[in-house]
Amino acid sequence: MGYSNKKCNYEFFYRRGKVLSNFKEGERDYLIKIEFDKSVEFIECRPGQFAMIRVPCSSNKNFMLPRPYSIANQTERGIEVLVRVVGKGSEMLSSLKAGASVDVMYPLGNGFPSSNGFSNPVAVAGGCGIAPLGFLARKEIVGGRKLRILYGASTKEELVLISHLSSICNLELATEDGSDGYCGTVFDLLKEKCHELNFDLIFVCGPTPLLKKTALFAIEKNVKCFVSVETLMGCGFGGCLGCAVNMRDGNYLRACREGPVFDARDIDWERFAGVGV
Ligand SMILES: Cc1cc2nc3c(=O)[nH]c(=O)nc-3n(C[C@H](O)[C@H](O)[C@H](O)COP(=O)(O)OP(=O)(O)OC[C@H]3O[C@@H](n4cnc5c(N)ncnc54)[C@H](O)[C@@H]3O)c2cc1C
Ligand code: FES
Repeated sequence: MGYSNKKCNYEFFYRRGKVLSNFKEGERDYLIKIEFDKSVEFIECRPGQFAMIRVPCSSNKNFMLPRPYSIANQTERGIEVLVRVVGKGSEMLSSLKAGASVDVMYPLGNGFPSSNGFSNPVAVAGGCGIAPLGFLARKEIVGGRKLRILYGASTKEELVLISHLSSICNLELATEDGSDGYCGTVFDLLKEKCHELNFDLIFVCGPTPLLKKTALFAIEKNVKCFVSVETLMGCGFGGCLGCAVNMRDGNYLRACREGPVFDARDIDWERFAGVGV
């Protein structure tokens, strides 16, 4: 099985888009809908692919380097992204009002493969990892079967898009403080459920420690597992080598071109540090 069903169509230029809406979700996340002009060609995005987004210099006094964001949904004329405020760039994006201009290069990288051929797939999301996995759930409703998603956060206030997710997937929540759903980490929930449900495929996205634990667990149990990694990114299209991922064979692959989705077995988990904590 390859990393994605559809070879991605690389077009390395920014398209000018407009913010259609920007809604605050939970404590520090923003769901931003971006729309492009009718003249912009529709390119189908695969869950796990991402966009590089920047605020154009003309509408922004402070120069902003583009930031990578997973595609959380695709509409006829645009995309949605879920932005968690962690620093200056995300703060700037979160403050954009409807009508504001943004420059977007997308879709980039390789997304998650389909679960065809597997009988009991599960997706494990930590924090903003819910963005690509929610999108995956939309695409994975096959023959009425909804994807099971285990979604965890430190507390209830950090869980976002719950009512929407409940309608498109088989959702189970975990909070570390026990304020909603299972009391514990989403990894603890995965271990418990795996015992009961015998998953044969795991998709995971979230902070690097969650990816690492899930990957090692899947390898030990001989379960196929695909991880979407987070690294710092400069260009987003393979030119700067700022997103190198340590592979098990001693080589490096670029998260932006060969990833961000990798087979968990291919990564050297001792050496790969990532950035999501
Ligand atoms: C493929 C990919 C998909 C992503 N999808 C999403 C998403 O859907 N939603 C979302 O909120 N974020 C996502 N991120 C992370 C997002 O790109 C960073 O949070 C953002 O670039 C931080 O910019 P900043 O200027 O606000 O923070 P900075 O001021 O640059 O950094 C502030 C803090 O955030 C950390 N940080 C910086 N870059 C990253 C990063 N790439 N990943 C994790 N932590 C980082 C820094 O180490 C620092 O501690 C994704 C990253 C990648 C590589
Ligand atoms: S971000 Fe520049 S090579 Fe990947």
